[in-house]
Amino acid sequence: MKVFPHDSLQEVYWIEKPDGKKMLATKNLAPGIRVYGEELIKIEGIEYRIWDPYRSKLAAAILKEMDVSMIKPGAKILYLGASTGTTASHVSDIVGARGKVFAIEVSARVMREFTERVASHRSNVYPILADARHAENYSDVVGTVDVVYCDVAQPDETEIAMENCYQMLKKSGLLCLAIKARSIDATKEPEEIFERERKKLAEGGFKILDIKHLYPFDKDHAMVISILRK
Ligand SMILES: C[S@@+](CC[C@H](N)C(=O)[O-])C[C@H]1O[C@@H](n2cnc3c(N)ncnc32)[C@H](O)[C@@H]1O
Repeated sequence: MKVFPHDSLQEVYWIEKPDGKKMLATKNLAPGIRVYGEELIKIEGIEYRIWDPYRSKLAAAILKEMDVSMIKPGAKILYLGASTGTTASHVSDIVGARGKVFAIEVSARVMREFTERVASHRSNVYPILADARHAENYSDVVGTVDVVYCDVAQPDETEIAMENCYQMLKKSGLLCLAIKARSIDATKEPEEIFERERKKLAEGGFKILDIKHLYPFDKDHAMVISILRK
């Protein structure tokens, strides 16, 4: 088995299996601990976690060659919709010991699982049980961040993401927004929804850098990568 660094993303790797198949991976910040049943592979004494693009929209966006290079070692990330930590754990691997991941989740049951699986093994992850619609309840604790990652799968997810950015994202910071077409309006075509949300962001002061449908990894999500011009 061989390991290669990703061309443009720090702390993201390709693992090449003996059959030539290449898979995305991150170095495990909590060696020996799995978060979602992912494969752990040790190469030259370093443990890597295979990153599944069918389970993580961020991995899918990377495979679609979207530029998420601001998620890097030492970065401070506000993660909205942490769930049980599939993606947040890989973000924690990437930002490393010098970085921070503030993980917001509204469901107490889900947050308990997140804490057990992820936060209790990783000192750079700060779990916050809160509703992302009320950023003012945690903005003081979080401070200013380099990146807001939003995957709450709610009809008003764009508005939620924008408000969190206004309160905590640094000037020229990055917003990664996963847009779930069906959770916004089940009666409209996905492309129509993506365009409407793109317009909202543009009117709200965001420069859109890239928007891509995550097919075939995810059938009804697009990822929007944008910068807050403030
Ligand atoms: C699609 S899942 C996130 C998956 C996760 N990002 C991943 O890739 O591992 C959406 C999560 O957002 C949470 N959520 C929904 N509304 C929320 C809100 N208003 N504030 C915070 N979390 C919310 C849900 O409880 C759920 O766990």
